Amino acid sequence: MSEDKIIIEGGHRLKGSITVSGAKNAVLPVITATLLSSTPCRIIDVPKLADVEVISQVLESLGAKVSFLDKDLYVDASNLSRCEASDDMVRKMRASILVMGPLLARTGKAKVSMPGGCAIGTRPIDLHLKGFEAMGATIRKEHGYVLAETAGLKGARIYLDFPSVGATENLMMAAALAKGTTILENTAEEPEIVDLANFLNAMGGRVRGAGTKIIKIEGVPELTGCEHQVIPDRIEAGSYLIAAAITGGDLIVENVIPDHLKPVIAKLEEVGCFIYEGESSLQIKTAGPLQAVDIKTLPYPGFPTDMQAQFMALMTKAQGASVITETVFENRFMHAEELRRMGADIRINGRSAVVEGPSHLQGAAVKSTDLRAGMALVIAALAAEGTTEVGNISLIDRGYDNLVEKLQQVGAKIRR
Ligand code: EPZ
Repeated sequence: MSEDKIIIEGGHRLKGSITVSGAKNAVLPVITATLLSSTPCRIIDVPKLADVEVISQVLESLGAKVSFLDKDLYVDASNLSRCEASDDMVRKMRASILVMGPLLARTGKAKVSMPGGCAIGTRPIDLHLKGFEAMGATIRKEHGYVLAETAGLKGARIYLDFPSVGATENLMMAAALAKGTTILENTAEEPEIVDLANFLNAMGGRVRGAGTKIIKIEGVPELTGCEHQVIPDRIEAGSYLIAAAITGGDLIVENVIPDHLKPVIAKLEEVGCFIYEGESSLQIKTAGPLQAVDIKTLPYPGFPTDMQAQFMALMTKAQGASVITETVFENRFMHAEELRRMGADIRINGRSAVVEGPSHLQGAAVKSTDLRAGMALVIAALAAEGTTEVGNISLIDRGYDNLVEKLQQVGAKIRR
């Protein structure tokens, strides 16, 4: 297969406005949560992403009927025929593990291939499995599969050693149909958790406290279909803000919830960008040189790990040294090597990277190692002298809806 690439000619300021799509990391758990419902659901404003394709295939392999009409996804999971997410599916996308909670709650059985690690880290699922056991499931691991079974989940009090987004989501979904009340403590507080809770409640669930460290879920006997509009993608929005900043542009990003971007806005203002908050839009202007700024990634409401690579690209053009500390994943600096190929000066030691700027970035042939690293390379290419080829763009298509077209609209010289 011809390795499809993105070709970018740098040096063009971004000007105009880009509209953000529905959030990838909100729509994936919402789609798996439809497995809990015995009548059809309609999900509105679904982004056109490879990951949405994959999770839809997983649901179909379980017996659900899934159809995509315009930007709406219709799921009818009234009759599930299987409860196994196959190896090739889970390997394609580790978020498939999010079918486990709903399957266990709805059918009493779930067989999911162990998600492999990925480029950014081992990404275990121990917290998910510990939670399911606390709710009365027996867990077995055989031939690379995890098998979970239960005669009926019961409410439990579960403390998460780490505020894992996926574990919080999986356990919320499992608890929604359990007998009795579940209390999850030290939960993730991301906006995507709140969106999932709103969806579960719209289906008749009783979830309280999403967005805080303690979430209380009262199990109900049945959940039924509903309509749900997905929240906008804060990471896509933040990525375009940084693309504008590195080109000295003047960009309006439409369809955002400014509150979800507080840590990113704060850091971009420290860098020297001017950001104007609208009701559901952000405008960024960059006048004068960019200042080097330190960041440390943390669970929400800290600076998001999914914005770390993009920010590192920006810091290659900032005056001075910036220290970037990645506390969430153990191996999320692969983009540094690729940025060095473009002339960046980055030194890694352990969980910290020191970026010396400003570097004179030059176009080169580079490859994306994970979804956000790919976006970081596109961002660097927009400010590099000459032409850059970014390979492995199938990774970028997993998380960015219509990236090339959206950037072309605001003046980037970019093509597939
Ligand atoms: C979600 O992944 C996102 N994916 C990731 O976005 C995001 O980077 C991550 O949350 C952190 O915000 C989706 O929502 C589909 P975690 P998830 O469980 O749920 C450790 C992107 O680019 N951990 O919060 O897998 C784990 O090893 C992707 O859009 C355990 O130790 O993240 C990691 O170090 C990348 N045991 C840390 O927690 C567990 O059982 C955070 O993982 C689970 C997690």
